[in-house]
Amino acid sequence: MTGVIRVLVLHGPNLNLLGQREPQVYGSETLAEIDALLAQRAEARGVEVTALQSNHEGVLIDALHEAGQGTADAVVFNAGGLTHTSVSLRDAVVAAGLPVIEVHLSNVAAREEFRHVSLLAPVVVGQVTGFGVDSYLLGLDAAIATVRKRRN
Ligand code: DQA
Repeated sequence: MTGVIRVLVLHGPNLNLLGQREPQVYGSETLAEIDALLAQRAEARGVEVTALQSNHEGVLIDALHEAGQGTADAVVFNAGGLTHTSVSLRDAVVAAGLPVIEVHLSNVAAREEFRHVSLLAPVVVGQVTGFGVDSYLLGLDAAIATVRKRRN
């Protein structure tokens, strides 16, 4: 496979409220600002990025299925609270058959115990957690590196 690398960035529940939601935990940037930073980084790296946020598990599952049908080469995924609970999202990650990078703004391991478990962790390439907005940017770089390595 050759051609421009296409990365889907998926934001899960409540991330539409970034900027106003617990800024001491998640930072002051809005989702639109994060998406703009990702678009900037993607342009600098010569890759294509598409971002989608949904509060609905099924929409995220559909997006993963679609990505797996060939519309993306990798996914950067912040599943929000569903990270810790959703077998269906984990199954969708496996079904998509694409490299998925799990990202979190906060350091989930340093927070409540229920956030220490990620049902996605065993089926993703790796996790970037605790770097605020940079978690997404590092996640994008990790996604690009993973696709390049797999293409070689
Ligand atoms: C989060 C961490 C989750 O535990 C939480 O439910 C979120 C955001 C993060 O980016 O730090 O909604 O995924």
